[in-house]
Amino acid sequence: MKLGELFEQAVEELSKAKVETPRLDAEILFMDTLSLAKSDFVLQKSRDLSDDEAAKLKELVDLRAKRMPVSRIIGKRGFWKYTFALNENTLDPRADSETLIEAVVKDYDKAAKVRILDLGTGSGCLLLSLLGDLVNAKGVGIDTSVGAVDMAKENAEANGLSDRATFVPVDWRDGEILGNLGKFDVVVANPPYIPLADIEGLKPEVKDYDPMLALAGGDDGLLSYRQIAMVLPLVLDAGGAFYAEIGKDKEERVKEIFTKSGYAFKKEYKDLGGIIRVLKFLSP
Ligand SMILES: C[S@@+](CC[C@H](N)C(=O)[O-])C[C@H]1O[C@@H](n2cnc3c(N)ncnc32)[C@H](O)[C@@H]1O
Repeated sequence: MKLGELFEQAVEELSKAKVETPRLDAEILFMDTLSLAKSDFVLQKSRDLSDDEAAKLKELVDLRAKRMPVSRIIGKRGFWKYTFALNENTLDPRADSETLIEAVVKDYDKAAKVRILDLGTGSGCLLLSLLGDLVNAKGVGIDTSVGAVDMAKENAEANGLSDRATFVPVDWRDGEILGNLGKFDVVVANPPYIPLADIEGLKPEVKDYDPMLALAGGDDGLLSYRQIAMVLPLVLDAGGAFYAEIGKDKEERVKEIFTKSGYAFKKEYKDLGGIIRVLKFLSP
């Protein structure tokens, strides 16, 4: 079968499955599988595919038709300046979370010796992106999921950052273990913040493929913030800053949680869609 012919079949299958961007998704799957740059992909549309190539492509397109995200099918996601490998225990990093990276890197000198803690590190995308820009910074990423911690370690290695990043399986509710990690100048967190009642209404790409541990934020979506506010004094040094990603329209509730715990609200940051996505607090 010709590459172009199978490609058009794939676009049709993905359109029928109500995939939002069928042509783009099929293109990424084809280019990744056949190791083709975009220009070669266009030029090679009339070439014959081997049986193995065609079978592999059909298998991947079927997965996308089942609404598995392209990033999960190819096992990686571009975020900030790096590529992060994913597994079933890691959230698929969102472009919105780059808002937090931008906020932190603007606040510190590139050469500053900042100590960073990432609560709920997942693929490690936040901590590793920060370490990439702040070249003398060191950091620790924790996650209650051992599978996520393993993936983050691999991502640190693959992106040449493992000498400054440590990843450990820790539950942030465990104050004793958390306190043993030491004090940090910067604490960042993108905790699970979807209210339980909203989970069912999420699109299949999220609901069926992102780990529930990375999504579910209790009845009101704020449970993790309350838990983190309780342990933050154990890890955030005097004069330090805490940056939290938040869900849409949750800024007032999250500000209340941290200001009641003695933190001073400093600044809010909007994502590219104009939604307030990150809040910054200062330690007392
Ligand atoms: C929304 S995901 C964020 C992942 C990653 N930081 C990112 O931005 O893509 C939240 C992460 O918090 C972790 N998590 C949930 N509850 C936790 C807890 N009690 N202690 C530590 N990590 C937790 C989840 O396993 C998940 O990896």
